[in-house]
Amino acid sequence: MSSNFFKTKPIQKILGEAGDGEHGFKKTLGPMNLTTLGIGAIIGAGIFVLTGQAAAQYAGPAIVISFIISGLACAFAGLCYAEFSSMIPISGSAYTYAYATLGEFLAWVIGWDLILEYLFAASTVSVGWSGYIVSLLYQIGVNIPPEFTAARGMELLQVPANIPGIDAGWLPKTGELVEFLANQGVNASSLPMVTSIINIPAMFIIAVISMLLIVGIKQSANFNNIMVIIKVSVIVLFIALGFAFIKSSNLHPFVPERVGEWGHFGWGGILRGAAVIFFAYIGFDAVSTAAQEAKNPQRDMPIGILGSLVISTVLYILVAIVLTGMVNYKFLNVPAPIALAVDAMGEQYSWLRIIIKIAALAGLTSVILVMLLGQPRIFFTMAKDGLLPPVFAKVHPKYRTPYLSTIITGAVAMILAGVLPISILGELVSIGTLLAFVIVCIGIIVLRKKRPDLPRPFKTPWVPLVPILGAGICLLQMAALPFATWLRLIIWFAIGLLIYLFYGRNKSKLNSGL
Ligand code: ALA
Repeated sequence: MSSNFFKTKPIQKILGEAGDGEHGFKKTLGPMNLTTLGIGAIIGAGIFVLTGQAAAQYAGPAIVISFIISGLACAFAGLCYAEFSSMIPISGSAYTYAYATLGEFLAWVIGWDLILEYLFAASTVSVGWSGYIVSLLYQIGVNIPPEFTAARGMELLQVPANIPGIDAGWLPKTGELVEFLANQGVNASSLPMVTSIINIPAMFIIAVISMLLIVGIKQSANFNNIMVIIKVSVIVLFIALGFAFIKSSNLHPFVPERVGEWGHFGWGGILRGAAVIFFAYIGFDAVSTAAQEAKNPQRDMPIGILGSLVISTVLYILVAIVLTGMVNYKFLNVPAPIALAVDAMGEQYSWLRIIIKIAALAGLTSVILVMLLGQPRIFFTMAKDGLLPPVFAKVHPKYRTPYLSTIITGAVAMILAGVLPISILGELVSIGTLLAFVIVCIGIIVLRKKRPDLPRPFKTPWVPLVPILGAGICLLQMAALPFATWLRLIIWFAIGLLIYLFYGRNKSKLNSGL
C-alpha cells in the first residue's frame, strides 16, 4: 500500500481554500438559518413513521428511553462535529475532517460513505413523500394511477375505507400490512392488486428541489424555513392537544416484558428500538456542509448543529410520550401512527388528521432539501481535491451554487427513488451515517494529539471521554443492524475502493503536490 494513502492534508492549506472569492459560494447563512437547516434535515420520516413501528415491534412505551439513548449518541457525535466544523469550516464535512486527521484513503472512504447518508437518504425520504402525497390526493379524490407510485415490481393493495388505523388507498403489500388487515378481519388476497412500474412522485419532488437548490442557497434556506415552521408548529400542536388524552394505563408496563428472541421488548427491545429510530436523528451533521456559506462559521456552526439537535430531541421525547400514552403501543404498527393517535381524540379533531399529513409532507420535503444540499457540497470538496472529476467542482457564475454537482446528485437520487424499495435504502442510510459519526469522533482525539496548537473556537468537552462514548454507542448501534445491511456496506466500499485505486489516487492534488 502506498504511503500516500495515509498522507493528511495540512489544515492551513484547507483553510486557505475556504475563502469566498469571486468563484466561491455566497456567504449568507446566519445562526437562525443554520439551526433551521438542521431541524429541516432531522425531523422527517423518522418521527412521522418509524416511532410508532419501533414502539409496536420492539420497545413499547419505553421507546422514550430508546430516543434518549440514540439522542445521547448523537449529542456526543454532535459535539465532535461542532468542534471540527468551527475549526475547519469547509463544505466537505466529515470527509474534510478525515483528510486533515486520518489521511487521504480514509477521507475517500468517508466521502464515499457519506453518499450513503445524503444521497440515499434523499431517495429514501422521497419515497416516503410519495406515499404521503398519493394518500393525501386520494383523500381529496385525485387518483394517481398506482402503477406509477412505487418502486418497480412492488405489489400494491387497494385498502378500502373505514378500516381503523389506516387510510383508504393503494399501499405496498408488506407482510405487516397483510397481518394488520387480517387482524381487522380483512383478507388481503380479496383486495384489488397492481404491480408498480416506477415511482413518479418521488422522482418529481427530487427534480423540483434540485432546481431550487441550483437557483440559490438563500432561496433554498428561505423555503426550508417555511417547511420547518409548518412541521414544528404542527408537532407542537399535536403534543399540546394530545397531552390531555394520555391514559396512564397505556404507559403501564413502561418496559414490556421480553417476548421471544432478543430485541423484542425488555431492555434488548429498547436498544433495538434505539438503533431503528437513530434514522430520526440523522441530519444535524448536514449543517456542516453549509460551512462555506455561513457568515460566521466559527461561531455559528456549533449553534446550528447543537441547537437543531437539542430542539429536535426535546420534540421527539415529547411526541413519543404523547403517542404511546394516547394509543396502546400494540396498535402503532401502521404507516401513519401520529394520524392514528389523532383518531383517538375523537371526531371533533378529525381536521387535525389532514394537518398532520401536510406537516409530514413539509417535514419530508425539508429533509430531502437539506440532504440534496449537502451531497453536492461534499462532492464539490472532493473534486477540488482531485478525488472526483472536476465537473463536480463547477460553481454557477450567477447563482454561485455547485450546479453541475447538484444536477448529477439529483439525477442519481431520482433513479434510486424511482426504482428501489424504501427498506433497502433506509438501513444503508443508518449504517453509513453511524460509520461517519465513528470516524468524526475518532478524528477529534487524533487532532487534539497531533495539533493541540490549532485555534478551536468550540471545544468538545471531556475529550477523550465524549468522543469515545460517541464512537462506542454508534458502533453498538451498527452492530444491531442486520447482516444483509453489512454485506451491502461492504459491497459499496469495494466499489469505492476500485474507483479510488483507478481514479482518485492518480488524480489526487495532494499526491501530485498541487
Ligand atoms: N432524520 C431524517 C428523517 O427522519 C432523515 O427523515
